[in-house]
Amino acid sequence: MRKKITIIGAGNVGATAAHWALTRRLGNVVLLDVVEGIPQGKALDLLQAGPVDGFSCAITGSNDFADSADSDVVIITAGLARKPGMSRDDLLARNVAIVKSCSEQAAKYSPDSVLIVITNPIDAMVYTAFKVSGFPKNRVVGMAGVLDSARYRTFLAMALKVAPRDVNAMVMGIHGDNMLPLIRLANVAGIPVTDLLSSEELGKIVHRTQHGGAEIVGHLKTGSAFYTPGLAAVEMAEAILTDSKRVLPCAAYLEGEFGISGCFLGVPVVLGTNGVERIVEFKLTAEEKESLSISEKAVHKQMDATGL
Ligand code: 2OP
Repeated sequence: MRKKITIIGAGNVGATAAHWALTRRLGNVVLLDVVEGIPQGKALDLLQAGPVDGFSCAITGSNDFADSADSDVVIITAGLARKPGMSRDDLLARNVAIVKSCSEQAAKYSPDSVLIVITNPIDAMVYTAFKVSGFPKNRVVGMAGVLDSARYRTFLAMALKVAPRDVNAMVMGIHGDNMLPLIRLANVAGIPVTDLLSSEELGKIVHRTQHGGAEIVGHLKTGSAFYTPGLAAVEMAEAILTDSKRVLPCAAYLEGEFGISGCFLGVPVVLGTNGVERIVEFKLTAEEKESLSISEKAVHKQMDATGL
């Protein structure tokens, strides 16, 4: 029996996530949007790629949440995207209402699903989904760390002129300018990048990673990134649907881990059938702890602004 994935929001991120989900044969996809025609048209277009790509998963577009019933994973992408000059925080007021409604519907029609939230500001939006859905903390997770770490790995690979797949590096903390790309643990096939790049080069890469989203918004002018955000969410969904126990940086609800409580923040987690099955805690340096506490304060401020 094929798994069922619902993607809420048929904009750039949602439609791209649908595309990646099909090419990875994750399962049958339902693409939902409030706008008549958009999910139906994009789903039909994607379906017609089946004979060429070889997938036989089904995809349907709909404006009716009932069509999403009994999904195993629900990916929430609906909401406004940034424009040049906007911070992710600027989206909060509008997007909290959208994510609230999506989460209510997801909980109603797919009460046993795992929610993956992409909508920005993601750390507050995943908190919104957690509060509104009433799901246990392990079944609500935010997508940001996989995206930010992919950018970090890309920039390191470019600097080192090596294959991006051989660069291991992780970003923790808030999905914002204060995110924490970990230099200490970054490596190329196990070789520390601190042995290969100067602290000045690494500082530039960290800064570019922290502003990676804004860099793309600056190019696009009308919106933000969607290819890698969509794929990052699918990477998480695949780990959950196949129970692969992947260790991925995700926004998870902390209750004391890393000395932080009561908020979602990007940390390494084990993803499997039960969603966030474990948070992989490890020793941080004083500087890393300080950086995470800056993230924690910023996220709590966002959470207060949700009014939940
Ligand atoms: C980004 O960093 C959209 O927040 C997303 O590109």
